[in-house]
Amino acid sequence: MRGGEKLQGQVRLEGAKNAVLPILAASLLPQGDTVIRDCPDIRDVHAMAGILQKLGCRCQWEKGVMRIENGGLRHWEMPDELSKQIRSSIFLLGPILGRLRRATVTYPGGCEIGLRPIDLHLKGLRALGVKIVEDGGVIYCDGKNMRSGDVYFDYPSVGATENVMMAAALLPGVTTIHHGAREPEIEDLQNFLNAMGGKVRGAGTQRIEVEGVEKLHGAAYAPIPDRIAAGTLLCAAAVTGGEVELTNIRPWDLIPVTEKLKEMGCSVSEEYGRVLLSAPGRLRAFSCLQTQPHPGFPTDMQAQMLAISCTAEGTSVIVENVFENRLAHVADLCRMGAEIRVSGRTAVVTGVEKLHGMHVTARDLRGGAALVLAALNAQGESVVENAALIDRGYSHLENTLKNLGAQIERIEM
Ligand code: UD1
Repeated sequence: MRGGEKLQGQVRLEGAKNAVLPILAASLLPQGDTVIRDCPDIRDVHAMAGILQKLGCRCQWEKGVMRIENGGLRHWEMPDELSKQIRSSIFLLGPILGRLRRATVTYPGGCEIGLRPIDLHLKGLRALGVKIVEDGGVIYCDGKNMRSGDVYFDYPSVGATENVMMAAALLPGVTTIHHGAREPEIEDLQNFLNAMGGKVRGAGTQRIEVEGVEKLHGAAYAPIPDRIAAGTLLCAAAVTGGEVELTNIRPWDLIPVTEKLKEMGCSVSEEYGRVLLSAPGRLRAFSCLQTQPHPGFPTDMQAQMLAISCTAEGTSVIVENVFENRLAHVADLCRMGAEIRVSGRTAVVTGVEKLHGMHVTARDLRGGAALVLAALNAQGESVVENAALIDRGYSHLENTLKNLGAQIERIEM
């Protein structure tokens, strides 16, 4: 790709990766078929559909609509290879236990952005009476004596909250999750469970109540649009001095990001379902960005903000509080000419006038997107290797950017 083009145009967002994945997992729960609209064509969704099929479901996917028939659900052992590909395989434990009262999974994979333990998932399931034995990287769950109850998380883990919500949906009685995650995707999972006849309330707050029902029925559902894909495209417009309009978007989900972009000198106008960003010739640095669980600044947007701060005027400070190893993109950004100092989880970025094109390598999904953003504004040609990692969460990012005027193409190696 070759930097320097101002991006301009309109993009319609698809369903959010982090909403679709738990929703696909929850599709194991009903007695009946589910239809998920606006399903993004990303690698993690393919991997999740692959796991559902190995478990005995039928997944048909056409023009962004996925139909899941779970009538053949027989297997409680998740396939090793596919589970290692995505971390989201861990929250299949909840729905498989909910339906079959038994589940086995290998330690999950996903991005290399930290230790990513699963202790909170297991703690939550144990609180519902699941007996868990870990042996040689395999987790055996016996749910014969599952019952509803109180689950307290000392950290509001997104995946663990979702896992417990799904495990509890079919348990008699009320399960209360205390100090659960409050991300918009949690609320979306609640809405999906309720669309299938579930009784879940409180998502979006730190106390979620799941009243178990005897059975759930199939449903058609459109997940919320992807706030991280949206934020990434706004950053692309911002870093190139361009103007981009996003549609099918929930502006309130993006407030932490749009507020920072305004601080950097962008003008952002928001109305229902639409956000328009217009960027100045050169961005200004922001004072301090700290990642936090929702409604704080999302860790999934940290790398992209760091990338665009590299050429902003002044000094920006970024603190990554959620994951302990999420600054892998810094080394490549420095090779492109950025001035960044890292100490522990803090990065201090002194804006330079220009970056220069370089051969760089994506190390994780959002870090890979960050390198693409840097390359959009770099002088000369850049190659971002390992683009398959970016495909985990963006559907054909190169086409979206090309349609906005970027000089970018995919090279098959
Ligand atoms: C989800 C998102 C991911 C996002 C993250 C934080 C999906 C599919 N992925 O990941 O894009 O970056 O939320 O917003 O929705 N932790 C533990 N023990 C656990 C679970 C988590 O210590 O049992 C720690 C993690 O290591 C991490 C922090 O808690 O440091 C946040 O993780 P969590 O909220 O669970 O993120 P995920 O659900 O994995």
